[in-house]
Amino acid sequence: MAIIGVLDSGVGGLSVLTEIHRLLPGHATLYVADQGNAPYGPRPRWEIEALVGEISENLLLKGAQIIVLACHAASAAGLHVLRGRFTNVPFVGIEPAVKPAAENTRSGVVGVLTTQATANGELYRSVLARFANDVQVITRIAPDLVTLVEDGAHDTAQGKDMIAAHVTPLLEAGADQIVLACTHFPFLVPQIAELAGTDVALVDPGPAVAKQTARLVATLPYAERQNAYFTTGDPARFKSALKQMAGIDAPVTALSLKMGRLNGG
Ligand code: DGL
Repeated sequence: MAIIGVLDSGVGGLSVLTEIHRLLPGHATLYVADQGNAPYGPRPRWEIEALVGEISENLLLKGAQIIVLACHAASAAGLHVLRGRFTNVPFVGIEPAVKPAAENTRSGVVGVLTTQATANGELYRSVLARFANDVQVITRIAPDLVTLVEDGAHDTAQGKDMIAAHVTPLLEAGADQIVLACTHFPFLVPQIAELAGTDVALVDPGPAVAKQTARLVATLPYAERQNAYFTTGDPARFKSALKQMAGIDAPVTALSLKMGRLNGG
C-alpha cells in the first residue's frame, strides 16, 4: 500500500481519482480540491505555480509519497517547477491527449476543449509540435464549462446549450476526435456524446494517468492511512459533489492555505 496525493482546482480531478481507485484499489488517496481558488484556467502561470507548490507541500506533510496533478492547468504551470523543488518525490502530470487523437483521426481534424492556462503552456505547445504535424487542431477555450461542472449544472437545459456552443463548431469543422484537455470535462461525456454521436471519439487521458501512477507506485515503500478529502472551499458543497460525481460518501475537511485565497477565487 502507498499513499497517493491528488490535486485539482476542484471536482475535475475526481475523474482521474476514479481511474486511480479502479486501478489501484487498496492504496490510500489524499485528494485536495482548491475550490477557494478555482477556476485555475484564467489565472496567470505564477499564481497556479504558487498554489500547487503549497498544496503539494501540504500533501507531503500529510504523508503523500507521490503526487498526481489531476489538472491540466496545474501540470502546464507547475509540473517542471515541482519536480525541480521536490527532487525525491515522484510527480505525475497530465497532458492534452493529442497523440492518440492524431493517431486515430480519419477526418484529419482534432478538436481540443481546454482552458486558457493549458492552451498558453509550454506543455501544450510541445505536445502539438511532437504529435500534431499532420492534422488540423482546433483549440477551444471553454472556461464556462469548468464552472458548469463545479456548479453541477451540466445536465440542465442551459448547461446543454453552453456545451453545444463549444462542441458544435468543432463538429462543423469536421473533428472526429475531441480531446478533453481539462479534467472537469470527462463529466460532460454524456452531454457531448449526445451532440457528437458515436463516430466522434472523446479522448480522456485519465486512464493513462492512472496507469503511470500505478507504475510509479510499484516502486514506493509500504505506507498506510485512510483515504481523505480536503477542500479550500466549502466542505459541505464538496462532500455532496464527491457523493454525486464519484459515488464516494466520506467526510471532507476544510484546508486553508498560507497564501489564503487569491483574488478571483
Ligand atoms: N480541472 C482543471 C484542468 O484540468 C482546472 C480547470 C480550471 O480550474 O480552470 O485544467
